[in-house]
Amino acid sequence: MRLRLLLALIACFSGSLAYRPVVILHGILSGADSMDFLVREIEELHRGTIVYNCDKFSGWYSLENAWRQVEQIRDYLSDVGKQHPEGINVLGYSQGGLLARAAIQSLPDHNVKTFISLSSPQAGQYGTSFLHLIFPDLAAKTAFELFYSTVGQHTSVGGYWNDPHKQSLYMKYSEFLPLINNEKQTSNSTSFKMGMVRLSKLVMIGGPNDDVITPWQSSHFGYYDEDQEVIPFNKRKIFTDDSIGIRTLQEAGKLLIIIKPHVHHLGWHTNRAVIHQVILPYLD
Ligand SMILES: *[C@@H]1O[C@H](CO)[C@@H](O)[C@H](O)[C@H]1NC(C)=O
Repeated sequence: MRLRLLLALIACFSGSLAYRPVVILHGILSGADSMDFLVREIEELHRGTIVYNCDKFSGWYSLENAWRQVEQIRDYLSDVGKQHPEGINVLGYSQGGLLARAAIQSLPDHNVKTFISLSSPQAGQYGTSFLHLIFPDLAAKTAFELFYSTVGQHTSVGGYWNDPHKQSLYMKYSEFLPLINNEKQTSNSTSFKMGMVRLSKLVMIGGPNDDVITPWQSSHFGYYDEDQEVIPFNKRKIFTDDSIGIRTLQEAGKLLIIIKPHVHHLGWHTNRAVIHQVILPYLD
């Protein structure tokens, strides 16, 4: 009897030590409460996990300039990381996964171990369905006129709008994605790569039935060429040139590409089976 109690106590105690704290970042036009279901699943199945559900830039504020958001997320990750010197995990959903990745790359001495990018437009976005709440008539073909301008760059979406037919305007106007993806070299390019290769594990999750991330392969750094054919991530310059360290991570066995069909964009963080299958196994 006593032994059993002791074993239960040990299991309980080691369980609470086994999981690293997790920082969660929500998507566009929503807030931390949209991630509550995922938080509860983590807390229930990985008992003892401390979860930080970041509530910065909720609702309309999620449309603020990408760098302004990244700077605050960076400071947040840095603060949480200091409270847990043994290391933390980070999960970012949709736009939150892109901003979190940029924050991690902006922290040359971070202690993020596993980063999960949950259906995020890591190579950009060329589809407007998710914006129809704000811009009901916006069409992808003409959206560049709005986003590739000084005014458009005040919005987060302008920062990662990637029109395959307007690449010179993208390179000229976009103040965010070409920098964080090292398509444009700056004095920060080297440290952006260092921040990335510092990860112990990069888990990239996405799938063909997402219906919002366009093309859906952007969730794995795949993207359109000028003919709107999707080039897989490992055939693109960002990978072959190892511009931000994804190839380094892959060669070290630290990159996981997860393609899961039959999941809509709003299902990744709200569908129990999906969470159990593709998220929980990577939060250790
Ligand atoms: C490099 O990063 C620093 C700190 O975030 C920033 O202030 C600066 O503007 C960046 N430089 C370039 C060229 O992007």
